[in-house]
Amino acid sequence: METPHPFLAACRREKVAFTPVWLMRQAGRYMKEYRALRQKHSFLDLCKEPDLATQITLMPVDQIGVDAAIIFADILLPLEGMGIDLRFSKGGGPVIGNPVRNEDDIRKLRIIDPYEDVPFLLEAIRLVCRELEGRVPLIGFSGAPFTLASYLIEGGHSKNYVRTKALMYQNPGAWRQFMEKLADVVVRYVRSQIEAGAQAIQLFDSWVGCLSPMDYEAFVLPYSQRVFQELDNQVPFIHFATDASTLLPLMRRAGGDVIGVDWRIHLGEAWKRVGYDVGIQGNLDPVVLFAPPEKIRETIGTILAAAENRSGHIFNLGHGVLPETPIDHVRVMVDAVHEMSQR
Ligand code: CP3
Repeated sequence: METPHPFLAACRREKVAFTPVWLMRQAGRYMKEYRALRQKHSFLDLCKEPDLATQITLMPVDQIGVDAAIIFADILLPLEGMGIDLRFSKGGGPVIGNPVRNEDDIRKLRIIDPYEDVPFLLEAIRLVCRELEGRVPLIGFSGAPFTLASYLIEGGHSKNYVRTKALMYQNPGAWRQFMEKLADVVVRYVRSQIEAGAQAIQLFDSWVGCLSPMDYEAFVLPYSQRVFQELDNQVPFIHFATDASTLLPLMRRAGGDVIGVDWRIHLGEAWKRVGYDVGIQGNLDPVVLFAPPEKIRETIGTILAAAENRSGHIFNLGHGVLPETPIDHVRVMVDAVHEMSQR
């Protein structure tokens, strides 16, 4: 029998010879080959051209030696099929031309058929799997219902999520309909990625940390939970959020085989909060990659020590790699994790 890949083994909390490592946003602007492609194509065009998306997905596998690939795509790709006008501004941030503000807007949103609405993504997944030939597993991903709702309502990134919370508090019925619809979209979007060949899934609830634990439990947990339940046991799931240290036990209750955490909490403390019957992913501060190599190695050492050699740790940053990061330091990180975590 083939030995399982360390990344998939760690997702299942099986013993591994070393701690597997990958980086959120590992294919992107810190790579000169990516920046060269961006000179010629918009970000959305890169996502919609399967050959280019494949090429970009493989860059960090070939150049950095990460233990998993993540499909080059975006959490906002399913929105167009829902009837949303999505663009990316010159500065790079997403802009929604027709934000969702009332019950009528919610009623008009379509539930996507991924085979009709994002065929390019599924084709890219099939191509990447063929090119990888099993070298490393491929991760698919989706935004979680809350984080998608926040973009749809605010129309872009937000500081205080005032409109999102206002809808939640002022019209809980409409909020629930909205979240049900988004959960349906996420389930279909994820299922199609698994059918195309994705071997693990990360659910990004990047901005859910703006909520109190009470509001998370009442307004978010049931819908994220439904996503995990409907996709139960198909492949390992990583459930990720930032700034969510106080929500960790609730996120764990919502679901996921591995909980992804940022650097604002000690990894050992985070693992204790979610329980040792799930895995943990994280949690190097992306800005540490701007420090000298000795400092990078030292910080990695403290994170590995916090994991105490338990099975089920996947090393990652606490959030995406920043565009100005020196690529040499990304290599230092990956090599150091491999070397320092040898069992
Ligand atoms: O991790 C990977 O390498 C896979 C690719 C990936 C992208 N977006 C590509 C991307 C992943 C996993 C995402 C997820 C995503 N997209 C999230 C969740 C993760 C997180 O950051 O919390 C969110 C919130 C988005 C929405 C989004 N897409 C924003 C807010 C932005 C603009 C900010 C930024 O970082 O540029 C994007 C654009 C985007 N998505 C880029 C890439 C490589 C940059 C596009 C470019 O200008 O070249």
